[in-house]
Amino acid sequence: MIIEDFSTDFGPFHDRTWLNCAHQGPLPKTAAAEALEAVSWKQAPYELTTERFSEIPQRVKQALGRLIGAPAEEIILGNSASYGMHLLANGIPWNAGDEILLVRGDFPSVSLPWIALESRGVTVRHIEPRGPALGVDELRASISPATRVFCTTWVHSFRGHALDLDTFGEVCRSHGVTFVVNTSQGLGARPLDVGVTPVDAITNVGFKWLCGPYGTGFCWMRPDLQESLEYNQAYWLSMLTADDLAKPQHDLSLPTDLGARRYDVFGTANFFNFKPWAASLEYLLDLSIDRVAAHDQSLVSRFIDGIDRNRYEILSPANGPARSTLIMLSHSDPRQNQSVYQALLDAGIYGALRSGSLRIAPHLHNNDADIDRALGVLNAFRGFP
Ligand SMILES: Cc1ncc(COP(=O)(O)O)c(C=O)c1O
Repeated sequence: MIIEDFSTDFGPFHDRTWLNCAHQGPLPKTAAAEALEAVSWKQAPYELTTERFSEIPQRVKQALGRLIGAPAEEIILGNSASYGMHLLANGIPWNAGDEILLVRGDFPSVSLPWIALESRGVTVRHIEPRGPALGVDELRASISPATRVFCTTWVHSFRGHALDLDTFGEVCRSHGVTFVVNTSQGLGARPLDVGVTPVDAITNVGFKWLCGPYGTGFCWMRPDLQESLEYNQAYWLSMLTADDLAKPQHDLSLPTDLGARRYDVFGTANFFNFKPWAASLEYLLDLSIDRVAAHDQSLVSRFIDGIDRNRYEILSPANGPARSTLIMLSHSDPRQNQSVYQALLDAGIYGALRSGSLRIAPHLHNNDADIDRALGVLNAFRGFP
């Protein structure tokens, strides 16, 4: 298979190789140009028109709606994955004794907003997975009559395992449990359609596989879930514009039909971030996520096929639908992992060290040469005796 090369749409990387998209995705050049345009608007503030205040968030919502198969009006703009997670944790009307199920070892921002509810009489229970990833039978066995929510990551940040949202979602649905998923390590690298996948809410960062600036993110939830939230948020720009302030009197009654936009993060038009993010999203969508996924998976295959298995163990799934774009590996002597990581850095190659293992996370900006460069260093590594 001949891999397509999109690397010239990104960078410059100054002879470095960025294989850590699970931390930060690079901004495509087209988005960088839009960021500069946003700066020019701020340099000449008459460019910050009322129309642009509504256009920019709307453009991001349109793109995100296309990405996940939801109407743009159902997208809630945030600045992180944590934003949407807090909205849910703080907004769901809890009763004493309600139970939330989490997975032990999940990414902290997935768990902490729920753990913080314990002081309100809500029980938080962690499921301890038997193996590297939670099995659907383990979820089924853990659900009790008190379970209201099950929250997990789609792709595990430290194990690289992708959960099958269909099976987990079906189990939740059949037990009347709200299924909340942090999709941050999957969306952009693999397709997701919330119209067919049985999830109730997703939260996502914008700055990893969606190649947006840091400080971007969003949340989507089923409209009935959104309407059931009890959360005091009444942001003036979700119901008025700066032009309304020119009128002799402005109406301060709270509209009841704001829908999801009621929960948009404050500063919704945040030009420096959302203008380039819109461009990044449109860039990915114009390519199509299926094509992006094929590209990324071909890089993952090249890495897994090329790594010296006598010296390294692949810890994340090496095949099948649970395989993601996060490759976790360990030297056969795990004490060497820190030195391996350093050897990569010394060669200008940026992976990550997570939970004592190495993580390689390639995306659209990478090509075969990047993978070969990393393999060259890894397979030649001799380390300390
Ligand atoms: C699964 C996952 N969720 C969220 C984040 C970041 O969360 P937040 O945007 O809330 O800081 C990360 C990594 O940075 C992650 O791996």
